[in-house]
Amino acid sequence: MTTDLSSRLNREEANQELFELLRIPSVSSDSTRQADMHAAADFLRAKLAAIGFTARVDATHGHPVVYAEHLQAPGQPTVLIYGHYDVQPEAPLEEWVTPPFEPTVRDGRIYARGSTDDKGQAYAHVKGVELLLQQGALPVNVKFLLEGEEEVGSPNLEPYLRDHAQELACDVIVISDGSRFAADVPTVTYGLRGLSYVEIHVQGANRDLHSGSYGGAAPNPINALCEIIAKLKDEQGRVTIPGFYDGVEDLTPEEREMWAKLPHDDAEFAASIGVPALPGEAGYSTLERIWARPTLDVNGIWGGFQGEGSKTVIAAKAGAKVSMRLVPGQDPARITRLIQEYVPQIAPQGVHAEVREHHGGQPVKFDLSSPYIKAADRALKRVFGREAAFARTGGSIPIVAAFSAILKAPVLLVDMGLNEDAPHSPNESFAISDYHNGILTSAYLLEELAQ
Ligand code: BES
Ligand code: MN
Ligand code: MN
Repeated sequence: MTTDLSSRLNREEANQELFELLRIPSVSSDSTRQADMHAAADFLRAKLAAIGFTARVDATHGHPVVYAEHLQAPGQPTVLIYGHYDVQPEAPLEEWVTPPFEPTVRDGRIYARGSTDDKGQAYAHVKGVELLLQQGALPVNVKFLLEGEEEVGSPNLEPYLRDHAQELACDVIVISDGSRFAADVPTVTYGLRGLSYVEIHVQGANRDLHSGSYGGAAPNPINALCEIIAKLKDEQGRVTIPGFYDGVEDLTPEEREMWAKLPHDDAEFAASIGVPALPGEAGYSTLERIWARPTLDVNGIWGGFQGEGSKTVIAAKAGAKVSMRLVPGQDPARITRLIQEYVPQIAPQGVHAEVREHHGGQPVKFDLSSPYIKAADRALKRVFGREAAFARTGGSIPIVAAFSAILKAPVLLVDMGLNEDAPHSPNESFAISDYHNGILTSAYLLEELAQ
């Protein structure tokens, strides 16, 4: 197909509509923003209804799901487009150059929380579909599934998938909720890491103690926590939890070769995040470490006195939040159990240490030879004028494994954003050109998926 949709795209209108969505502070983890979650869901429902979809907002035990369908291409495949309208908290607010929920354009980028993760990418699909409808009919059947709980681990979406499995039946699931490999490299992503997220809690004395009267004799939970954390990784950058690497799928030589050819430079990568070195697991390149090796990182730590000045005290408790990114062959529930068994074993005497479970997600990896991947490659070539890179990514989208298991359809990850868009960080942004290219990618992809 050779339709030129680029000249038909009303870019200013596309921008203004996305801004409207970005103004809604739909932070899923913030219980004071329930009304905003509904407003964002309803905005999407209304837009999808306006362009001709049968659209509704479904209540769940958590935030609502937007479901919409347009099934007027008999004999053609059905494409389910998934995205999320919830966003991460905006904190730390003082680091934003312009307010997180007042989308602002600077240097060709839209600055706002959710601009790249994932409102901008999800809305690009809405606009891509609209573009196709404006010139005639849709070449395939299309269903939209837009959720409001991705950033909190999608606790209610799996039951929703089970309850609506027939309605959601499809031939392929398209998701744009990650990052392209580089600004000038269109990317098809064929793997996501999984996740086990836990908290370590260390309890010492029955109260905070005077560090003079008790120091030297009483156990110190903060010191103990540091000892525990230090023991979780060895000098080679390997996680020490017994059994952690059991079953981990090795990289294939083909994969290593393919990734080694990608335009990646360690010095540039280090400079881009302002660090002098990239410590990590010995024996693996940076891309291999991020995309195909499991990791353990402390995400937060607390305990003791944090106020101004000093206070001579031995805290009664300390804790840390720990994320473990997992790869194919690892099971999040098993990994969580392993760390729960291990931490008490390595805790120093005199403290009680335990691990509490948060959420998790299965790792996934897709077959590169699928015809859907080839269709994505063709669509990207039409937009960018060059072949796509095939990459895996270090992030997680926990519901993807459930898509494969429950809907039994292949998943296609066609990313529009970039890591440098700073998702989850202050000053998150989305390049306007990436947004517009994303709209075209969506439209061309649906054309290429038609038979
Ligand atoms: N869009 C990201 C996932 C992602 C990030 C994919 C980077 C590819 C590259 C998603 O919104 C996200 O933040 N996921 C969380 C999952 C967690 C909240 C259960 C993540 O990866 O930390
Ligand atoms: Mn996301
Ligand atoms: Mn996210």
